[in-house]
Amino acid sequence: MRTMLMIFIIATVLVSIVSHYSGFDTHLPIYILAVVSIAVLYVNYQLQKKIEEKREIESKLKSLNENLEARIQEELQFKVEQAHALEQQAKMAAMGEMMDAVAHQWKQPLNALTMYETLLKSDFKEGVVNQAYIDRFLEDTTAQINHMVNTLDEFRDFFRPNQKQEIFRLRDSIASVLRLVKDEFLKNRIVVSVDVGLGICFEGNENEIKHLMLNIINNSKDAFNERNVQKRLITIKVLHANQNQATIEFIDNAGGIPEHIIDKVFRPNVTTKAPDKGTGIGLYMSMQIANKHHGTLVAQNIQDGALFRLTLPTVECQKIPKE
Ligand SMILES: Nc1ncnc2c1ncn2[C@@H]1O[C@H](COP(=O)(O)OP(=O)(O)OP(=O)(O)O)[C@@H](O)[C@H]1O
Ligand SMILES: [Mg+2]
Repeated sequence: MRTMLMIFIIATVLVSIVSHYSGFDTHLPIYILAVVSIAVLYVNYQLQKKIEEKREIESKLKSLNENLEARIQEELQFKVEQAHALEQQAKMAAMGEMMDAVAHQWKQPLNALTMYETLLKSDFKEGVVNQAYIDRFLEDTTAQINHMVNTLDEFRDFFRPNQKQEIFRLRDSIASVLRLVKDEFLKNRIVVSVDVGLGICFEGNENEIKHLMLNIINNSKDAFNERNVQKRLITIKVLHANQNQATIEFIDNAGGIPEHIIDKVFRPNVTTKAPDKGTGIGLYMSMQIANKHHGTLVAQNIQDGALFRLTLPTVECQKIPKE
């Protein structure tokens, strides 16, 4: 374009010189050339401007593209970090729940061990500690310590998927739970009546079902003490059972669940107890366990106490030897 402009300018100058020396009237071509030159100049200027604009847009686009890539990378990084943080949070919550659950389940054996220690001291002073006493003492304390160890294992497994499944007899599980609370319940004058046949078996994690039952009867114990009930009775009986499912009732005469929380007792952190006495996690965990075993757990108040109804799918007991 510049070359053409130069040609026009040179041509204009040449025409002017020729017209000047030849006396030939060349005004018209000169005007035409001048107008064309101006027009070319203008077009050239416009073109230059367009090219500049295009370059500017191109460079802006380029930097925008670069920025966009960086922004996408940043955004992706942020999303990955956020997902990781959420995962961590969920893990921490599960860990917290596990710690609460372990603390909750350890309360009872720790109380029992403290009681054995006190008893040992006083019995030693009274001179009744002999070999048979020591044997029983060891048996009882070992049972409590084993329970604490099992609790840890169980809760560690509880938060791990694919834990082992087993077939177990309900009556054996109840007997095992009652062995654990035997002394504590004796001290608190609580009588437990069990009416459960040998023919009811479940499949799942026995320890978890044991903990569910432990939570329920420990709540009754707390209620008996809070209300200072004189004649304390817990009844565990089968409401109905067939080859598909069984419904077990846990009934106490401890005055019943406070009305204002009866609809939400299975939610976490619902408690009427002082912080050192209860965390409000026992029934929540129990419901989780029942659901995990494809069962249900419901609560209601009866005339003078509370009733918990546990329904679980049953399996054949044939493979398990009788106790
Ligand atoms: N048998 C019962 N009799 C009367 N109230 C009960 C009974 N079982 C449960 N409750 C009420 O339900 C609440 C929730 O029970 P849950 O076992 O979930 O928690 P908690 O016993 O308060 O604390 P945690 O079990 O964590 O030590 C109790 O605080 C109590 O008020
Ligand atoms: Mg409880």
